[in-house]
Amino acid sequence: MKKLNGDVAWEDFDPQAYIEHNYRVLHPDDEAIITVVRDHFSGHFGGSGSVASGIDAGAGPNIYPALSMLPWCDKITLLERSPANVQYLNSQIESYGPQWDQFWDVLCRDEAYPRRVEDPRARFAQTVQPRQGNLFDLAKGDERWAMGTMFFVAESMTTSPEEFRRAVGCFMTALEPGAPFAAAFMEHSRGYRVGESDFPALDIDEQVVRATLDIHASNVQTHRLGKPGGLLREGYTGMIVATGHRSDR
Ligand SMILES: C[S@@+](CC[C@H](N)C(=O)[O-])C[C@H]1O[C@@H](n2cnc3c(N)ncnc32)[C@H](O)[C@@H]1O
Repeated sequence: MKKLNGDVAWEDFDPQAYIEHNYRVLHPDDEAIITVVRDHFSGHFGGSGSVASGIDAGAGPNIYPALSMLPWCDKITLLERSPANVQYLNSQIESYGPQWDQFWDVLCRDEAYPRRVEDPRARFAQTVQPRQGNLFDLAKGDERWAMGTMFFVAESMTTSPEEFRRAVGCFMTALEPGAPFAAAFMEHSRGYRVGESDFPALDIDEQVVRATLDIHASNVQTHRLGKPGGLLREGYTGMIVATGHRSDR
């Protein structure tokens, strides 16, 4: 059944149920995604590094995209529509939960992470700012970010191909020219359940992801991950992680 982003009760998204299902332990598919994203960001900034502002669009209750940007950013915005998820993110600022250490450990397999971030909890607290807001409004203002992530959002917020393309476009427009980004997508998802509520998804594949990103980005690389950890979230066939740079214009 067709469901647009504005038709969904995002306030019913249950962060604890979502974490319990997806992020209580580190699953092999997230480990594979983190590895690709880490190498992309570390490769972009190199040893010298550069300080920038970052954004994670549609953060939900997932903090590992923010951790992946932590060594390179003065400020990281976690944009999220659901008040329940924003409340969870706020609860993690002062000292994030111990389960996130497994995710940080994967990032630390690249020496730039531990070298540039001595105390990740302290740095997270200084750097990360949750913000309740709508991805579709992002590009309306003048604010732009120097790097960005968007994980399981554009295809997991609507059944509309037009809204999927618009979500990708708004995310990309919010980035400065040349900004490195990483985005992850569920492949052929039929929607998903969190706690007691069902949420919509658009059935997409690697070709759609690439074609949509190519409009806004250069050096786009996509990686299709089968199901290294088995069927974690039901009703999909794999995950796609994409990296690249916002185009210069
Ligand atoms: C499947 S969850 C992904 C959460 C997280 N990024 C992750 O990696 O697990 C989709 C998220 O997108 C958020 N979302 C949906 N529509 C949004 C919008 N228009 N603007 C910002 N966030 C939105 C939802 O509240 C939810 O947290």
